[in-house]
This record gives sequence, C-alpha cells and structure tokens, in this order.
Amino acid sequence: MTIRLGDTAPDFTAQTTNGEINFHEWMGDSWAVLFSHPKDFTPVCTTELGMAARLKPEFDKRNTKIIGLSVDPLDSHEGWSKDIEETQGAKVNFPMIADSDRKVSDLYDMIHPNASDTFTVRSVFVIDPTKKVKLTLTYPASTGRNFDELLRVIDSLQLTADYSVATPVNWKDGDDCIIIPSVSDEDAKEKFPAGFRAVKPYLRITPQPNKTDKQKPTSV
Ligand code: BEZ
Repeated sequence: MTIRLGDTAPDFTAQTTNGEINFHEWMGDSWAVLFSHPKDFTPVCTTELGMAARLKPEFDKRNTKIIGLSVDPLDSHEGWSKDIEETQGAKVNFPMIADSDRKVSDLYDMIHPNASDTFTVRSVFVIDPTKKVKLTLTYPASTGRNFDELLRVIDSLQLTADYSVATPVNWKDGDDCIIIPSVSDEDAKEKFPAGFRAVKPYLRITPQPNKTDKQKPTSV
C-alpha cells in the first residue's frame, strides 16, 4: 500500500524491544518518527541507530517519539543493541520493531523488491499527533540518513501546525519564516505581531514566531 502525505498512518500491533506495542496507543498525543533499516548487524544501520539514540533528547524536546524497524527477530535486535552501545557510545533508548513476518513492512510499503526482495529500505515516516503522515522519505541501504535533517523538518512541521508559517530553502531554526498563502494580509497583521515584510504579495517574511516574545501560538 502506498502511503501519501495527509493519509492516516496505518495502525498495527507489533513485538518490539520494549514489549508489544499498539502503534497509535504508543504514540498517544506525541509526534512520531517510524523508520526502517535493512538488517541488524550491518554497518550503516549501526551508525544510524547510535545517532538516533544520542539525539533522543532532541526528539523528546519536540514531543516526538522514535521507533525503528527491521525484519529481524527480537533476539537479534537485543544482541545487536549491545554492539550499538559498545561501538556508538549510546544505549538504544527507543523501541525497535521485530518485523519477522513483515506485517508492518508490508503495511508501510518498506520492502521495494527491485532494490531487495528480503530487506526493508530506509523508510522514514513523520506522523503528527492526529496520526496524519506529514513526511515520507526513502533512502537506499547504502546511504545513512541525516537525523539532523529529520529534526529540522519536525521543527518546520511544528511551526506550520502552531503558527501558520512555512519555512524557506535551507531554513534552520532561528531563521525567518514565510507566512502561508492562505493567511490574508489583514489576518497576518493580527497573527504576526512582530510584523512581516512583503517582498511580493505571495512572499511575506516574518521572524520565526516561537523566537519572538511578541507571538502566541495559533493554529492553521
Ligand atoms: C548497512 O546498514 O550497512 C547496509 C545494509 C544493507 C546493505 C548495505 C549496507
């Protein structure tokens, strides 16, 4: 099944290194990052899982839970976790789904047969608290993902959800934002007390709303 932006993230129950989890229940009111990796005891995956563990406090700050997946069984995940701690200097501090029966991989279309019949590709799904899919990414097995970029996208998604702004090319936390087109100039004057600059009628720049004391959260 192809999962598109705006779809409800399919729910599932799965065995994980933190016990059985019902995905939607586990998410609760949080955002979530569900990411697959091809196989346990592989080098690129080992570095990714180590980085995810080190960055967990940053995901926590963003009210975002993270959960990994591969088609290897639970005892393999548990053995591999020891290697990750030993080599990456961080204990895996989030659940890893043991998807031996490929139930979740199939549900999220994480196996791309022309890349590999047996292993999941590097999929990422960012899901908001209403369980809507807000971002999908697919990387090949040979390329490790950039977890700083995931945090950057989550910051952008949360700014859109809370303040009706979008973020421009190469935006990073603290940079100016763009007022989304559906907000009229009249409403923008009220919504953005720090002010805005209209470079063009469709390109209106405002300071990052949660970095100015003039702004309170609104919804889109
Ligand atoms: C890795 O994680 O290192 C990896 C996994 C499958 C194919 C290539 C690399």
